[in-house]
Amino acid sequence: MSQEARLVVVSNRVAVPKARGAAGAQGGLAGALNAALKDRSGVWFGWSGEEAEEHSGEISTQTTDGVTTATIDLSKRDVDEYYNGYANSTLWPLFHYRLDLAEYERETGKGYERVNERFAETLHPLIEDDDIVWVHDYHLIPLGERLRSRGVKNRIGFFLHIPWPPTRLFVSLPYHERLVRTMLHYDLLGFQTQEWLDSFLHYCRTELGAEVDDATGSITLDGRTTIARAYPIGIDWDHFTGLKDTGDSRQAEQRLLSSTRRRTAMIGVDRLDYSKGLPERLDGISRFFDRFPDRVRDLVFIQIAPPSREDVESYQQIRALLEQKAGQINGARSEVDVVPVRYVNRGYSHAELYGFFRAAKIGLVTPLRDGMNLVAKEYLAAQDPEDPGVLILSRFAGAAAQMQDALLVNPHSPDDLSHAIATALDMPLEERRRRYEALISTVRDDNVQDWTSNFLRDLDAR
Ligand code: F6P
Repeated sequence: MSQEARLVVVSNRVAVPKARGAAGAQGGLAGALNAALKDRSGVWFGWSGEEAEEHSGEISTQTTDGVTTATIDLSKRDVDEYYNGYANSTLWPLFHYRLDLAEYERETGKGYERVNERFAETLHPLIEDDDIVWVHDYHLIPLGERLRSRGVKNRIGFFLHIPWPPTRLFVSLPYHERLVRTMLHYDLLGFQTQEWLDSFLHYCRTELGAEVDDATGSITLDGRTTIARAYPIGIDWDHFTGLKDTGDSRQAEQRLLSSTRRRTAMIGVDRLDYSKGLPERLDGISRFFDRFPDRVRDLVFIQIAPPSREDVESYQQIRALLEQKAGQINGARSEVDVVPVRYVNRGYSHAELYGFFRAAKIGLVTPLRDGMNLVAKEYLAAQDPEDPGVLILSRFAGAAAQMQDALLVNPHSPDDLSHAIATALDMPLEERRRRYEALISTVRDDNVQDWTSNFLRDLDAR
């Protein structure tokens, strides 16, 4: 591809390294986009995360660690309707197969369209002739079409970081056709896995009557053709594994080891989100202690769960439920010198997480549904190859498609989880090494740099 082309990345939230701090709170997108912009000229455009009295249209630019960002504030009404409302109370639950939690309000739908229009209006003057524009995630689905309507002819790609639901669920969204038709204005559409891609192609064929070629991912409707493909995202391997020798990671590792002593540490790190299967995870742990009460002296579970989207009611409910469940297990199983569950409501830096992962002999990643899940990959990347820990992974995480040698579980089943924990605790070194060896090459080789260059190569070829 032409190295000269400037890259314009657009996402709802913009998070440069300095402002990042709590890695566990950010999801994988922020790290991936920082890595994508590090080695090329470009700009990252999005919401500052701040609420202003009124939308002023003012752009603030900043360059940190070689990444230039351009951000705008949103008004309180915009945040309520677009971010808390349509994006996180309608699309997020629906795309994670949670029809029971999906709300549809006409006003929030209008707010979503208004903010996408605002993004287009503010971004348009910043786009230069040869720029490549790369839009990210469910907050900004209509943005490409909004830019086209303003005459932008540049190549524009879109990547969805979360699952795409099966057609039978997706059609419950009012005006679903309108939303998907806007997507066909992008030149290239990226999904995390073949499964989400297949669901999208199925929708285009059956609901829109588009001409779809499964082999190439080409979708033709009303004389326009777009291409849709799967590009599984990876971690920034060099950066993450480079944290091994930092003071922060060593200190974090020691802190965990000395506080758990002879007990095996099992760790989970997730934004506090109902899609992550946290109550179900605690039910599995509770079942494990019911079946093996003596093992309360063998195992300590550390759940790091930084709060997320706290203005959305379903997130407030999940937080209350988790506090209750963690309290119940500890109330029933603790001794004066043993507390089985450490539930921590804050985020940690990547270096600290590296240290915690290395000290924990079991990594528990059990979302009910997840686009990819980079915690699974980071957990493995932090392991000691001579004495690696065991990854327990939900079969419903996008990562499972690439990580069949993890201990795959059904996160809805407490028995399955309990059985996997027992298997992981007792797994001989030889089997741990064999599984680690089988998994680590995809984590190392299918990294975020690859993901970026594969997507941009295909976009450049359009
Ligand atoms: O990966 C999904 C995602 O919604 C990203 O778009 C986002 O950066 C991350 O999760 C964290 O979510 P939020 O920006 O709502 O805190």
